Amino acid sequence: MQQFSHDTIVVLDFGAQYSQLIARRVREMHVYSQIVPYTTSAEDLRKMQIKGIIFSGGPSSVSGSGSPRPDEAIYSLGIPILGICYGLQVMSVQNGGCVQRPDKREYGIAELETVDSTSALLQGISAGSKLWMSHGDSVSSVAEGFRQTGRTKNCEFTVLENDEKQFYGVQFHPEVVHTSEGTHLLSNFVLKICKAAPDWDMGSFVSTAIEDIRKKVGDKQVLCGLSGGVDSAVAAVLIHQAIGDQLVCVFVNNGMLRKGEAERVQKVFRDSYKIRLQYADAQDAFLSALAGITEPEAKRKIIGKVFVDTFYEAARSAGEISFLAQGTLYPDVIESKSPSGGPSATIKSHHNVGGLPEDLKWDLLEPLRELFKDEVRELGRELGLPEDMVNRHPFPGPGLGVRCVGEVTKKRLDTLRDIDAIFIEEIRSAGLYDEIWQALACLLPVKSVGVQGDERTYEEVCSLRAVTSEDAMTADWYRFPPEVLERAANRICNEVSGVNRVLYDITSKPPGTIEWE
Ligand code: XMP
Repeated sequence: MQQFSHDTIVVLDFGAQYSQLIARRVREMHVYSQIVPYTTSAEDLRKMQIKGIIFSGGPSSVSGSGSPRPDEAIYSLGIPILGICYGLQVMSVQNGGCVQRPDKREYGIAELETVDSTSALLQGISAGSKLWMSHGDSVSSVAEGFRQTGRTKNCEFTVLENDEKQFYGVQFHPEVVHTSEGTHLLSNFVLKICKAAPDWDMGSFVSTAIEDIRKKVGDKQVLCGLSGGVDSAVAAVLIHQAIGDQLVCVFVNNGMLRKGEAERVQKVFRDSYKIRLQYADAQDAFLSALAGITEPEAKRKIIGKVFVDTFYEAARSAGEISFLAQGTLYPDVIESKSPSGGPSATIKSHHNVGGLPEDLKWDLLEPLRELFKDEVRELGRELGLPEDMVNRHPFPGPGLGVRCVGEVTKKRLDTLRDIDAIFIEEIRSAGLYDEIWQALACLLPVKSVGVQGDERTYEEVCSLRAVTSEDAMTADWYRFPPEVLERAANRICNEVSGVNRVLYDITSKPPGTIEWE
């Protein structure tokens, strides 16, 4: 079991949508926090030498058969516990209280009505504070030793505390932004009740991660596929700091990269960081496999297959490899939780790596799996990666191949690369890059008539798209100042051959997707 070098708050995960947010809020106050499964034994928690435990919420009903319950010995560890939503309910039931399901579920904003001024958890939080509720069950009778310190109109036992044992519980979700003083409440628990020292930062993350990587890898070799995206870049640089030349990176040029990307990746990783880099230039293999193919799924499958073949060929020439490093982040871990759960099931789909071939049995090394995207960006800065590499828009694994609607040819890719470069350049110079989740250009297999100089042209049409989004599940089209679009469209028509008309896509997602295919 891991023992932490900094004061740590562990989040016991009961399957809530928000478990990762709790850990992240704690890290935001410079205290390290990590999520562990609710099945973690009290003995293991004791060995970790943690300062406090937070029970997350969860989708189960505590009265349902087989509902997740923590090891009861946790209540004898002498460590402060904060239960959130389901976490409060399970703590109440295990300590002799009762939970019931009222007629109505409570979902949305509530107001904290009364506050006991002696409450340790609610110190500095005022009556009237907005709380975010999302629950079916609630506590109906309070366990011995607990007292009520806060209520709302619809929920009697909204905040419960057992001062002697330092057990606390809230029915609402302090970790979400809709709870107006949620961060304050969490800091009361973490800093005042648990007395965790706020001395953790990304620099501490780096030193701990380096130690962990060295311990895990020993003298073996690690392979890391670089995609050009921030996650794999940060993972590679971090691992390189830990084990130097025991890391081999593979970068596949599939011919569908952004303008200058292949050169840039080589410059940063090989020249600046001195990382061993296998550069596989497979442009021809991709293009010939894609010749004549226009159906989007067929294109994706071909790109995926050629990628896998190229990647493994490069890997085989790298010598004996024991670990495959991936820049998997916490949201990826959640998304890829599969019933089979085997390591190959969690390989990031955007690398388009399917199951590992029989002769390449690698263990996974995923040093970023506790982190969120913006934390990875912060880590990238800490490791000295260039800002525009750390802070870039998402880019699909199959690259410009998906944005070349219709057949993927060298000529069309070159046209699209130029269009994309101009569009992104104009967005950057207007200072709008960071306001936009993702900006892209695609080339449509539609020709139209135009006129340039005195000449009639008959060329393809491109569509520009920029969206705002939180998580790419839904997206809205970005409202550009018209002059930015005007400049981009003018430059594209004047500077790029093969295109004579520019559209701007104002479809939201749904019904559209972000990419065109
Ligand atoms: P859509 O087009 O489905 O895209 O709205 C949602 C997000 O996913 C990205 N995307 C991909 N990312 N490999 C990736 O790594 C892919 O094959 C892929 N396809 C779409 C897309 O850019 C957007 O951010």
